[in-house]
Amino acid sequence: MSRQTSKTDKKPASKSKKKSTPEAEVVELTPRIRPEPSPEAAPEPTPGPAPQPAATEPTPAYSMARVDMRSWMRDLETAGLLRRIKAEVDWDEEIGALARINLALGGPALLFETIKDYRDTLCTRLMTCGIASRAHVLTLAGLPSDTSDKDLVRHFKDAYRKPIEPRLVETGATKQNILRGDAIDLGQLPVPKWHASDGGRFIDTYCGVITKDPETGRTNVGLYRGMIVGKNRIAKLIIATQGWGGHFGKYQGKAGHMPVAVVHGWHDALPLCAGSPFLKGVEEWDMIGALLGRPVDLVKCETVDLEVPADAEIVVEGYINPDPASFAMEGPFAEYSGHAAHKASPKPVMEVTCLTHRDDPIYRCALEGARPGFPSEDSPLCAYSWSAIAWNMLEDFGIDNVMDVWMPPVATGTNIVVQVRKRYRGHAQQVANALWGTSAGQWFFKNVMVVEEDVDIRDREALDWAMAFKVDAGGGQLLTFGPTFGSVLDPSMPPELADPATYGSGSWTRVLIDATRNWEFERNPEIDGRRVPALNTIDPELERKVRERWSEYGIGVPYLDDEAREMLTLEQMRKVFPEA
Ligand SMILES: Cc1cc2nc3c(=O)[nH]c(=O)nc-3n(C[C@H](O)[C@H](O)[C@H](O)COP(=O)(O)O)c2cc1C
Repeated sequence: MSRQTSKTDKKPASKSKKKSTPEAEVVELTPRIRPEPSPEAAPEPTPGPAPQPAATEPTPAYSMARVDMRSWMRDLETAGLLRRIKAEVDWDEEIGALARINLALGGPALLFETIKDYRDTLCTRLMTCGIASRAHVLTLAGLPSDTSDKDLVRHFKDAYRKPIEPRLVETGATKQNILRGDAIDLGQLPVPKWHASDGGRFIDTYCGVITKDPETGRTNVGLYRGMIVGKNRIAKLIIATQGWGGHFGKYQGKAGHMPVAVVHGWHDALPLCAGSPFLKGVEEWDMIGALLGRPVDLVKCETVDLEVPADAEIVVEGYINPDPASFAMEGPFAEYSGHAAHKASPKPVMEVTCLTHRDDPIYRCALEGARPGFPSEDSPLCAYSWSAIAWNMLEDFGIDNVMDVWMPPVATGTNIVVQVRKRYRGHAQQVANALWGTSAGQWFFKNVMVVEEDVDIRDREALDWAMAFKVDAGGGQLLTFGPTFGSVLDPSMPPELADPATYGSGSWTRVLIDATRNWEFERNPEIDGRRVPALNTIDPELERKVRERWSEYGIGVPYLDDEAREMLTLEQMRKVFPEA
């Protein structure tokens, strides 16, 4: 393939030639997005809260000047979490295979610099695995490696409570090159064919898809897949209950096509938040700002009334026609459930009107489909960002005493475990009902398990034990609800129900496993007024004595850590949770 040059507006961004920093040119274009002081005058940006270096941990090197894909890559590189691959690789399944193996190994982000057929194209480089593991998430959060998973979830939970609005700037590096009309050729981007069973080349896999509600003007940034079906055409999977699905519904039946902008390559906080199920009404730009500790700098698009990050690597602008006659076949795609494929079906098509890009852009994309032993980039998002959002949702619905939330990474949102300090009968049912009523329920929360504080929700063994000894299925502790809306991509569902064009959504029957103590049991004086017998623990005084003498016994293995000691005695827990 050769570099496309015709009809290219070469438009260097204002100010700095090299970095096109739009420092002072902040303009107000929409009421919500406020102009801010120039980044040079502003305090240095800090991603997340102040880094807390541990003795053994290097302080993450944040880029203070700009926040974009390149600053994120520098952060990763400094942390030893990015590799530049110079060996030639094939876009046709080889990159997919490499990403799959690298993710399984907990490897670094991969920047492929030599891609077969893409040595002289508009875009010659590709980055994947940018959020390959919890180490990448810790770098993004600015936290040391000894941070527990619970604290990492809390970090996201707290950050999402502190929105930072974006600001509009005059221009940015993404305007360095502007292609319109015949100059647009999506074949110029090194889009991988990820898996053997895929029906085509999926361009939109780790991007930000931006749309606006035509009635309220409210912006949505989502992460929705798309397959190239022509030089300037992308077929998109639009689910009615998703943020942009709601917008699309308002265009259906009316004159007019839906404007869309797709961002490929900015700081990975963008796809992280775009792919996270915030409640409707929460603006993703604000959440990205919250994670990064600074506002996102946005610029106006060229051909659609939307805003995109000023320094995005590549922006694809266009319109989607709601008329089903314009739809094109899209799929199959080896999807998030870890199964090889799903059937092709007619999907709405984004007709590309403009493509803007930085000089020598880097295309960001990701592999889908996690299964045991083989996580995807969804997996860390699920464990940390999605768990945090679910926790905040429960609080927002007024459910007290939620102590912890965990969405096991490889189940990719389908399963969730919630730990509560049980205060009333029906607490678990209330949790499940709240989760099932959210728009996030589209892809998430098929199976909800609720436990109490004596069960570590990130310990599979503890969950098995809770399932074994705390659940009386016939006594109301295993409930099903459905059919309800749900994933169209879950292969446990009859395939004939998996047609979004017909049904708008899939069909799930949901399950609640209530593994909390059953309050139908009478308090029993024979067991100190408890409903169920106490856990079999060791007296704290005895444990202390054994610990002091441990080396004297000569058993030859290290003693329990503090967490295990507490679980052995429940000394602290019983002060707040006497029934344990
Ligand atoms: C890598 C990745 C790919 C995704 N692909 C899709 C998709 O193709 N279609 C879709 O509706 N949701 C997809 N999702 C899930 C949505 O991004 C997620 O539900 C998010 O909440 C959407 O934003 P919204 O709530 O504003 O609609 C994907 C998520 C990730 C992390």
